[in-house]
Amino acid sequence: YKNLKPFPDDFFWGASTSAYQIEGAWNTDGKGPSVIDARKEYPEGTTDFTVASDHYHKYQEDIALLAEVGLRAYRFSIAWTRIIPDGEGEINQAGVDFYHRLIDEIRAQGMEPIVTLYHFDLPQALMEKGGWHNRVTVDAFVRYADVVFDAFGDKVKYWLTINEQNLMILQGNALGTVDPKVQHDKKNLYQQNHHMMVAQAQVMSRLHEKYPSSKIGPAPNIALIYAATPKPEDVLAAENYNAIRNWLYLDMAVHGKYNHLAWAYLQEKGLLPDMLPGDAAILAAGKPDYLAFNYYTTQTVEASRGDGHDEVVRGGNKYLKSGEDGVHRGAANDYLPRTQFGTEIDPVGFRNTLRAIYSRYTLPLLITENGIGAFDKLEKDGTINDQYRIDYLQAHIHQMQLAITDGVAIIGYTPWSAIDLISTHQGCAKRYGFIFVNRDEFDLKDLKRIKKKSAYWYGELIKNNGLSN
Ligand code: BG6
Repeated sequence: YKNLKPFPDDFFWGASTSAYQIEGAWNTDGKGPSVIDARKEYPEGTTDFTVASDHYHKYQEDIALLAEVGLRAYRFSIAWTRIIPDGEGEINQAGVDFYHRLIDEIRAQGMEPIVTLYHFDLPQALMEKGGWHNRVTVDAFVRYADVVFDAFGDKVKYWLTINEQNLMILQGNALGTVDPKVQHDKKNLYQQNHHMMVAQAQVMSRLHEKYPSSKIGPAPNIALIYAATPKPEDVLAAENYNAIRNWLYLDMAVHGKYNHLAWAYLQEKGLLPDMLPGDAAILAAGKPDYLAFNYYTTQTVEASRGDGHDEVVRGGNKYLKSGEDGVHRGAANDYLPRTQFGTEIDPVGFRNTLRAIYSRYTLPLLITENGIGAFDKLEKDGTINDQYRIDYLQAHIHQMQLAITDGVAIIGYTPWSAIDLISTHQGCAKRYGFIFVNRDEFDLKDLKRIKKKSAYWYGELIKNNGLSN
């Protein structure tokens, strides 16, 4: 293109975090345990989340720093167990008060709060009753959302329902969010999936009843699926996996229905969920105002070989390159470089993904996560020269502008992460933030905050509404 369309003037340039990865204070002021707190073994044996970045105690300093960087929006999640410690019983006023203070601070610093209701941290008390497999959790989530909307509805206009529901289902217990006893039980997982959909639909309807001008949407992880070759069987496998991994979740959020390919897959595999008579109407009634999604990379697949080896997990990549016998087989994309942690880097795939989603739904898009995990180094002179992060974000922002020029409506971009936090899988050595937090896996040091080179760069870019120098 010779003439790139500019980013909208009111574009939400922001950054993102989640409660359990940043807050710490896991049992402070009446907070109940979540599945994350109850996790006994951490995936790669690294750290725990009890202190994290200690944001619970340092939130004022953190929000001031984000404002200093120049962010216009800040996406964070509310910890369900701070508001309702056992998920469904008494309300913990101290938890409500904390988020009032946090939201007031964000607003006072001139940023728009974008709030995720639920980011992996299911109350442990609900997990002990079967988690999302038990419909009790559906009712508990709807009530929790009601409490949160009533408390903060006047201060928060932009909401997200469930973070990465699709990865929780597709990866089973890999995220530590699913009962380990059922982690390989796909039938159970797709029943949980159905319940999350029903809960999400009700929550979207509830917000619209209470606050008609507020906005809400889902926040799955969307990775467009490429075929490994133009071989028709590979193309077919890619389309099937797109339907199961991506469109199932967005079709459900937008149309309140299972798409036919996902349905055929569930039927073929004996995974169809039980539904209650009222579910179809609930699903059809809940409508998102926008589609939020997390984008890190694309995925490439080939046809299943049906040799029993399709489910082998390919090394390194955080989006496990696993397949499923009879469905697809994960493949490496040799055209793409990788991060230090093995994730393929695909900025053009970001444009491809934005276009594909918008073509399918024509709803405004909000990118709630995108970013690069790296071993950042604090230099002797106190700087962090994360040029690779600037390069990564710059390339993705450029592709986002190309997508806007293609006609895709995008309302904001809140990359992962605002400040360093604990990674889902790889402890705190894998950093994503614009702001460095001085701690190691086991040594909390002074938890000092230091702006990285990328923070200064991002601030300039925001000042110029997306044009970098
Ligand atoms: C997304 C999650 O999966 O990606 C975040 O919403 C997560 O919670 C982020 O931290 C990066 O993944 P990881 O495993 O590198 O922390």
